Amino acid sequence: MSNSILHPTGLFDNSAKDYKHIQAVPLASAMGAEIRGIDLSNVSDEAMAEIEDAIYRHKLIYFRDQDISFSDHEKITLKLGEFGTDAYTKGVVGHENIQPVIMEADADTKMVFGSGWHTDSAFLDVPPAIALNYGKDMPPYGGDTMFANSVLAYNSLSEGMKELIAPLKVWMSAKKVVAAMQAEKQSQQSGKVSKLGSIDLDPDTVKMVEGSYHPLVRVHPVTAEKSLFVDGTYANGIEGLSEDEAMPIINYLFKFATQESFTCRLKWESKTFIMWDNRICLHQAFNDYQGFRREMYRTTIMGEKPQ
Ligand code: SIN
Repeated sequence: MSNSILHPTGLFDNSAKDYKHIQAVPLASAMGAEIRGIDLSNVSDEAMAEIEDAIYRHKLIYFRDQDISFSDHEKITLKLGEFGTDAYTKGVVGHENIQPVIMEADADTKMVFGSGWHTDSAFLDVPPAIALNYGKDMPPYGGDTMFANSVLAYNSLSEGMKELIAPLKVWMSAKKVVAAMQAEKQSQQSGKVSKLGSIDLDPDTVKMVEGSYHPLVRVHPVTAEKSLFVDGTYANGIEGLSEDEAMPIINYLFKFATQESFTCRLKWESKTFIMWDNRICLHQAFNDYQGFRREMYRTTIMGEKPQ
């Protein structure tokens, strides 16, 4: 029996489909679903096809109680595509595509990796399509991740606004993140490699700030859904407009896209594995678990130039 939950606007349907190999349990009416009945370390191609369908339908999916090694994580990722580019780290030793997202209990930082609403590496020419994070050792409380559905956001705009923004290109640049990282590095007076909490960062900051121009209204290459490609971290301008002209538009769209009713909030447990559609989701992490260790690993799937 599918559990029918339609968003109150009537503009998004997050109800569960009846799958053969997995069971989807929706998290919120805006997006998200827990997937049950699967051991990700040993998943058939048929089940993986349903999992991929569930990623596109629910935008974020999560699996509880998964025992996943680095090589399992790599195998699951490769079932969905090629590894994506990571602009921030060189991966863990022996597994360059597995990015550590770790905060030690005694880390002394005001920043946290993944804070502020963003889509991953939006400043790249080819941002990642899907992200797969494994929460190996998670705090007993705090450290949740929030997600926002930017298809629902686009669908909820007026026809006039949709027309207005249709031809625009957004400048995605990591200028704010790079400035914050440099300030953090100075305050730690560390060497060449900067640290964010417990993560060694080794980014090419010039390229990250240069960034890329992408369509503000993005069309999903698999589902053909239109979405708002805007966030509060990397969206820093609009092609052909001055900063004074562009930022009010970006700030309006960003606030609109992240209103509570378009979001869901994931409460992690240790051994939770998640997958989200980075093309059409915003997400943010919080620095609200000081004194607890949070150990997570991330891979991404190579995307395409946004259209
Ligand atoms: C990220 O991959 O952006 C980090 C998410 C998180 O730490 O919850």
